[in-house]
Amino acid sequence: MGDKKFIGTLPQKELLKLYAKHVNGPKVKLFKGFGLNVIPGEREGIKFKILERVKESGPPLEIINCRSSGGVFNLGHRNPRIIQYVKDALDWLDLGDHMILSEWRALLGKKLAELMPPGITKTTFGVSGGEAIDCAIKFSRAYTKRKGCVSAIGGYHGHTGFAMLTGDPDFKENFLWGNSDFRQVPFGDIDAMKRAITEDVACVILETIPATGGVLIAPEGYFAAVREACDDKGTMMIIDEVQAGLGRTGEFWAIYGGMYPNEKIVPDFMVLGKGMSSGIYPLSTCSYKPFIEKAVFKEDPFIHISTTGGSDIGCAIAHEMLEIQSDPKFLEHVKEMGKLFGKGLNEIADKNPDLIKDVRGRGLMWGVEYHTETDGQLAMLHSINEGILLNYCGNKKDTLIIMPPLIVKKEEIEDIIERLDRAMSNFMKLKKK
Ligand SMILES: Cc1ncc(COP(=O)(O)O)c(C=O)c1O
Repeated sequence: MGDKKFIGTLPQKELLKLYAKHVNGPKVKLFKGFGLNVIPGEREGIKFKILERVKESGPPLEIINCRSSGGVFNLGHRNPRIIQYVKDALDWLDLGDHMILSEWRALLGKKLAELMPPGITKTTFGVSGGEAIDCAIKFSRAYTKRKGCVSAIGGYHGHTGFAMLTGDPDFKENFLWGNSDFRQVPFGDIDAMKRAITEDVACVILETIPATGGVLIAPEGYFAAVREACDDKGTMMIIDEVQAGLGRTGEFWAIYGGMYPNEKIVPDFMVLGKGMSSGIYPLSTCSYKPFIEKAVFKEDPFIHISTTGGSDIGCAIAHEMLEIQSDPKFLEHVKEMGKLFGKGLNEIADKNPDLIKDVRGRGLMWGVEYHTETDGQLAMLHSINEGILLNYCGNKKDTLIIMPPLIVKKEEIEDIIERLDRAMSNFMKLKKK
């Protein structure tokens, strides 16, 4: 390690002041209200440390990351294989030039085509999930020459242009971005979806397991019926696996066997983000069937570009990540850990029926639904105070979403379950007072 210091360059208090002054004041105030006015420092594997404890009853110095930032840290913090790969790659690569052709965009495009559900062979690159979602919606509109878009109530696809329009009113009203071409229907309700897919609808966009919406599990047959309804009307089907893809469910894709083993649905577009970064270098991808390419790029191959999206270095790192995460042994590990984790969470729920209403999930993506929003939020704080970072779902605040890194080990799962169990009994004790 070199002698330059990157962590704890100033005391936590001063950093919080700088954050409030120069980045986002209301956020610092909100976190202070929760007793979470701390800054992450050293990080490794499934854990990170905070710079300083603020109070005895607050978060401990060392925290287990059961958020994984929605899948960014699928491989944990600073995965040693990825770190070594980045160091090696930096002897050779930089961003590259998005206007010209690229070895690593070609190699990663090929790798994705090999892993995608059959027939999805082309990829356009971006930096963030929202950017890749915007790309899928733009391309759907170009291909169909229609404007309509149907998404799920409570679904979340990003804060950028078209992505934001697919979201709940809370995210867009402040920006005066209501738009009647963008409609929302309840997730899992196929009749509502069929009614919404009219002749003017360019695309349907769904997360396979809506995360911000409360880790919702669609009934078996839902996605097959959506596929059929899209085919009937010539509407594009966009699947967002920014959180649920890349092995999170124990299968590589959630849509293609990860939700229901016998249901292998092939969308027209598959969007990835977060975990494509390996927690190190941002990259997002919008992959699609080849017939779409002509409608978008034939007249002008530069019609959709992104300067830092699909950088040489980012693509090389993502290629290595895919090697790791698509390995059948890796997926088997996720399945095994997922079973253990689900069992532990269900046992906690059985012990606390007055608190917990439902536990649902797949692989290492779990939602724990509480009876009220307040209980959900307090359960989050109790968990954090036991050293487990997790959060309530932004569009369903009675539900905690729990996503440990996919590299989590058996003893670590046992430790997490023990801590969550303790957090819930502490919570119950306080509730009874
Ligand atoms: C399912 C899903 N899609 C898209 C996005 C947007 O990704 P980004 O924040 O990288 O734009 C998110 C972000 O949380 C997400 O959870």
